[in-house]
Amino acid sequence: AFPSRVKIVEVGPRDGLQNEKQTVPTDVKIELIRRLGDAGLSVIESGAFVSPKWVPQMADTADVMAGIDRRAGVTYPVLVPNEKGVEGAIASGVDEIAVFAAASESFSRKNINCSIAESFERFAPVIAMAKAKNIRVRGYVSCVAGCPYEGAIAPQAVADVSAKLLDMGAYEISLGDTIGVGTPVVTATMLKAVMARVPVEKLALHCHNTYGQALANIYTGLEMGVAVFDSSVGGLGGCPYAKGASGNVATEDVLYMLNGMGIETGVDINAVVDTAWFISNHLGRKPDSKVANAMRPT
Ligand code: HMG
Ligand code: MG
Repeated sequence: AFPSRVKIVEVGPRDGLQNEKQTVPTDVKIELIRRLGDAGLSVIESGAFVSPKWVPQMADTADVMAGIDRRAGVTYPVLVPNEKGVEGAIASGVDEIAVFAAASESFSRKNINCSIAESFERFAPVIAMAKAKNIRVRGYVSCVAGCPYEGAIAPQAVADVSAKLLDMGAYEISLGDTIGVGTPVVTATMLKAVMARVPVEKLALHCHNTYGQALANIYTGLEMGVAVFDSSVGGLGGCPYAKGASGNVATEDVLYMLNGMGIETGVDINAVVDTAWFISNHLGRKPDSKVANAMRPT
């Protein structure tokens, strides 16, 4: 049976904006996060304490975190790759961090400049520092359905990295189809391998929509019991280390499908559509989603 309730993890302010060519002003990011909270999203990934040389778009994360009003019941996670990052996160008073690993060696090197094994060595003190401050840790696995450098990725490799992150103390593992190449059968095979090692309650799917497969993959995840999905308002997004990666699946597209299935999310689709237009207007383009265009506010 499908889950009766789903948690949406809104990643627009981080994944959505990290790849933008134009610099998005800090106050626009703060307004975006406020609107997403007003729409009822309970998890809003708000930035990344990463090297500003690698990802300049996230350089103002400390200012964003200082500027947002934190609503009760809403979590505002940030990405952290190393000890310097977690120090920044702690100084900003965050309630959750996400460490990010990959199931592909080549992608790990391009994205965080180290091997998969070295990334686990880096994450160990990061996770310990976070836990000492009662900060929850989420774990990402990139390239779960394919890698821009290596092509197909073995489901077993995804399962190994996922199980390792769980062992190290991540409370939830988000499986990233970084370049959106997965199809439903590939996704199901991958999920089956991961679910043999990690309980499905601890899994999330993070689908990019490069090939238009995201909703089909999410439906596959729902059929298999996954109840947490990452998405990005207006379909914003991409990854600087994954050429051709387009946005995350749009939050409003996921909500429309879930609403049609009678699955609860606690999120107001109209408010998300308004927010998709708000941020897209700032970026000078239309939202990259069917639903925001179909439901365009007048
Ligand atoms: P490195 O160059 O090997 O790092 O980068 P380093 O330790 O040698 O340091 C080099 C310089 O960076 C030093 O500065 C450090 O202080 C600075 P310098 O002395 O040259 O002036 N530095 C930092 N500055 C600020 N914050 C930090 C930090 N760390 C070092 N935390 C590093 C290694 C991991 C830092 C770098 O590769 C990096 O920042 N990578 C992040 C890449 C990234 O953000 N990618 C996108 C997010 S992942 C993603 O999108 C996938 C996901 O959505 C899931 C999916 O779709 O699959 C999550
Ligand atoms: Mg992503």
